[in-house]
Amino acid sequence: MEALPKVEIAEPKGKLGVLTPGMGAVATTFMAGVIAVRKGLARPIGSLTQMGTIRLGKRTEHRVPLIKDFVPLYDLENIVFGGWDIFEDNAYQAALKAGVLEKTLLDQIRPELEAIKPMKGVFSKDYVKKLDGTYIKQAKTKWDYAQMLMEDIEKFKEENQVDRLVMVWCGSTEVYMKQEEVHESLEAFEKGLKENHPGIAPSMIYAYAAIKMGIPYANGAPNLSADFPAMYELAKQTKTPIAGKDFKTGQTLMKTILAPGLKARLLGLAGWFSTNILGNRDGEVLDDPASFKTKEESKLSVLDQILQPELYPELYKNYYHKVRINYYPPRGDNKEGWDNIDIFGWLGYPMQIKIDFLCRDSILAAPIVLDLSLFMDLASRAGFQGIQEWLSFYFKSPMHLPELYPEHDLFIQHMKLKNTLRYMKGEEQITHLGADYYEFYR
Ligand SMILES: NC(=O)c1ccc[n+]([C@@H]2O[C@H](COP(=O)([O-])OP(=O)(O)OC[C@H]3O[C@@H](n4cnc5c(N)ncnc54)[C@H](O)[C@@H]3O)[C@@H](O)[C@H]2O)c1
Repeated sequence: MEALPKVEIAEPKGKLGVLTPGMGAVATTFMAGVIAVRKGLARPIGSLTQMGTIRLGKRTEHRVPLIKDFVPLYDLENIVFGGWDIFEDNAYQAALKAGVLEKTLLDQIRPELEAIKPMKGVFSKDYVKKLDGTYIKQAKTKWDYAQMLMEDIEKFKEENQVDRLVMVWCGSTEVYMKQEEVHESLEAFEKGLKENHPGIAPSMIYAYAAIKMGIPYANGAPNLSADFPAMYELAKQTKTPIAGKDFKTGQTLMKTILAPGLKARLLGLAGWFSTNILGNRDGEVLDDPASFKTKEESKLSVLDQILQPELYPELYKNYYHKVRINYYPPRGDNKEGWDNIDIFGWLGYPMQIKIDFLCRDSILAAPIVLDLSLFMDLASRAGFQGIQEWLSFYFKSPMHLPELYPEHDLFIQHMKLKNTLRYMKGEEQITHLGADYYEFYR
């Protein structure tokens, strides 16, 4: 296979600012984790940018560098954190409250965490019913809020002397919203901002501010946020990479690992029942049916795309799929997720698979925030813009071009991600199907 032309990638100079609207469990676990790794207190397990390798060329060449040595990424040393929240807690206090990381670890990095203080959030209870924020900006219109966020960003950039920025939404899941007229063009959206249109949620105002300034924007929650034509238009105009939605962790991660395997072996599916208990603030927000609906849509969509019932009606046409999330405070962030999977094999004989995943949500999400920050910045320096489908690997509901379907299969996503990195560096794509392979058999 021919090598592709090399992409021009600007060098990562100076510092990279990572801004998170929302400084709760996920964001603080990410921040504390990066600081702990920098100090040699822990390892960045689960992060492709820090621990992953990439095979180059033929297997006989034995070229397998670390990803971070292959593409020019910012070092952890050069990341600076910033964020917004609707509560005033600094990152140390917020991490303690989130209860994900042990106090003994947090105390070792306390000064660094205490220095990360949130900026006042843009918030309205209309979009997250379960929260009563106390640390909120006041303005007349949504347009004014967007300007205030842009001022915050400028100020952060100057005060912290950062050269580049990325934004990753780590705020709460907003109520379910469908795309409507105000989302269909940039003109309609900007008019909507000025007229306080109810179809514009706070997460969209953050996304608008970032993309308007050319700052890559990734959405870790299932809200629409940046996933509609007005934002695609803005991203094109400002040449900005965008990605989303909803970090792929926990039960959905398991689903997208298992389902491709069942399909590969042509095992049929009669039903997949998934239920969870979790007791963190995210769980509380998702206790509201409107926020849960956003999450449910995101969680339900994966199986159909992977299993392709239209191609395999006998195996996958009529399976029953149910997803439940139950708020159960005693568990805090230590979620437990049960899956009961009814499958059938040879001659239609039924079998069952049970999964009991005692997972830690934010421990799975934190490396995703890190990888997305570094890869979205890389994309921007490589001149990539618009929807970064190659980062679908990290999302439950990957954003995709309107004419394409989202890819959910974790293994296909993984291959796409690595092939995109190879493409950036002018290396051969690896499909495991080189013509010389077949020569061997002839
Ligand atoms: N933990 C996971 O594995 C995981 C996986 C997929 C998606 N997510 C999503 O990531 C997001 C963060 O999860 P979490 O566990 O950290 O939740 P969390 O409740 O601990 O943190 C969210 C934070 O966002 C703040 N917030 C809400 N609205 C805001 C606004 N408009 N502006 C600024 N701050 C705002 C809240 O005050 C809170 O501190 C949620 O939307 C969640 O659904 C998490």
